[in-house]
Amino acid sequence: MKGGGGFYGLKMKQLSLFFIVFVCASIVVWNWEKTPHLTTLHDQELHFFPDEVEGKHATRVEDEGLALVPPSLSTNTNSNSFNTPHDEHPQKKHHENTSHLVGKSISEGKERSETVKQQLIASVTSQTTESTVTDDTPMTKVETQACNFGKGKWVPADNRPLYSGFGCKQWLSGMWACRLTQRTDFGYEKLKWQPKDCKMDDFTGVKFLKRMQDKTLAFVGDSLGRQQFQSLMCMVTGGEEMPNVEDVGKEYGLAKAHGSARPDGWAYRFPATNTTILYYWSASLCDIEPVDPTGETTDYAMHLDRPPAFLKHFLDRIDVLVLNTGHHWNRGKLNANRWVMHVGGKPNTNRRIADIGGAKNFTIHSVVRWVNSELPKHPGLKVFLRSISPRHFFNGEWNTGGTCDSTTPGSLEVVQDESIDPIAAGAVKGTDVKLLDITGLSLVREEGHISRYSIRAAPGMQDCLHWCLPGVPDTWNELLFAQI
Ligand SMILES: *[C@@H]1O[C@H](CO)[C@@H](O)[C@H](O)[C@H]1NC(C)=O
Ligand SMILES: *[C@@H]1O[C@H](CO)[C@@H](O)[C@H](O)[C@H]1NC(C)=O
Ligand SMILES: *[C@@H]1O[C@H](CO)[C@@H](O)[C@H](O)[C@H]1NC(C)=O
Repeated sequence: MKGGGGFYGLKMKQLSLFFIVFVCASIVVWNWEKTPHLTTLHDQELHFFPDEVEGKHATRVEDEGLALVPPSLSTNTNSNSFNTPHDEHPQKKHHENTSHLVGKSISEGKERSETVKQQLIASVTSQTTESTVTDDTPMTKVETQACNFGKGKWVPADNRPLYSGFGCKQWLSGMWACRLTQRTDFGYEKLKWQPKDCKMDDFTGVKFLKRMQDKTLAFVGDSLGRQQFQSLMCMVTGGEEMPNVEDVGKEYGLAKAHGSARPDGWAYRFPATNTTILYYWSASLCDIEPVDPTGETTDYAMHLDRPPAFLKHFLDRIDVLVLNTGHHWNRGKLNANRWVMHVGGKPNTNRRIADIGGAKNFTIHSVVRWVNSELPKHPGLKVFLRSISPRHFFNGEWNTGGTCDSTTPGSLEVVQDESIDPIAAGAVKGTDVKLLDITGLSLVREEGHISRYSIRAAPGMQDCLHWCLPGVPDTWNELLFAQI
């Protein structure tokens, strides 16, 4: 067992080493981007994950360029096709043959998680003495406005997770339920975020539903947004079956289109409080429409300066909106999806925007400005831009053997005041859109990803982008709950 100090010393050395390697790799990649190797890489990627380009829209490819560097640094290095393969296909039955593993996971998982927890407690108490005090103390919401929820520390907590990874089958995709895989360490489920300078209202489903009486909360974004959506559904229900929760997808046009693998989103209503929680899939947060609506192999205009049509259409029925994007902004994905950047209704000619990082920044600024301009018309509406969810591919990328198989966090504390996602922070500045800043607190949680237990990845490939549920995205929802 590593002690607190040794653990951190080692980690810091590793981190610096990874950083150096990353910077070198970035330079190589940056040069490589100018060479025509990309098509090869791209083909390979599609070969591995043919189901990603199925259907009319071919839009379910996932990724982003943030490893251990802030997004601003990573956009250049990752603007080619280093795509993360893992994405959601809930219709697939992944667990037909996994039942025999579950028993094993229960017993081994408990033991292991106790051990890891002991380690964590040791490392936390070596730094601070009041780390576990707050767990059972009832909290009240104070000074949510001035408070920086992104600064604080992770503390071990007996009352976590808020739902079981064996349960919540009604909402939780099997591929994200790490309890159903062969993973045996579950210490990552037992950490609770404690903001440094503010008290955070403890989440309960009852309190959430009361606060959201007759209201609708909408997540609009990529698969990381969908993770947050599933997490919230599980948190509100405690992971229990709730047959009376209504599927109201049809009210939002979220029926599965003929021939597509899944609908563009989901919407569920809790009848007791008339509360609706929905998710709409918009990987880019901009409007996407076929250039030639009748053509079989049409390109898609990606209108960087227009919000997703769904948002325009349904904004007046949303009370709390959580936006996110980031992991689809790279050449490989744009090409795979046949997305062509448009500005002002025409193919983009602005060189500054043509760069992927510039386009992403431009789009995020555009959608935030647009929704901010809508706020006066929607007095009750609260809008959050969720900062980027960090990826943790060490020693390689998703397709070159990159791994994230640590079973302990990189650190437990976030000390910086500013968000380390400058694009998101810059976009909300001067607006009434709030930043849901989860980047720093997630960046130290490298052990919380699906990792090698990804069901879909080929042998040797790991998912260091998506998170195990229950897990880190639950905390994003606790931060959200504290601010609504
Ligand atoms: C499940 O296991 C059975 C028997 O071991 C096998 O015949 C079947 O193909 C497996 N199904 C899947 C989806 O792997
Ligand atoms: C449910 O809430 C919506 C507003 O979100 C309201 O328009 C509707 O009347 C409510 N339904 C009931 C049955 O109270
Ligand atoms: C992002 O866009 C905004 C508005 O167009 C601009 O002011 C800012 O400098 C840009 N930031 C980056 C990192 O490109």
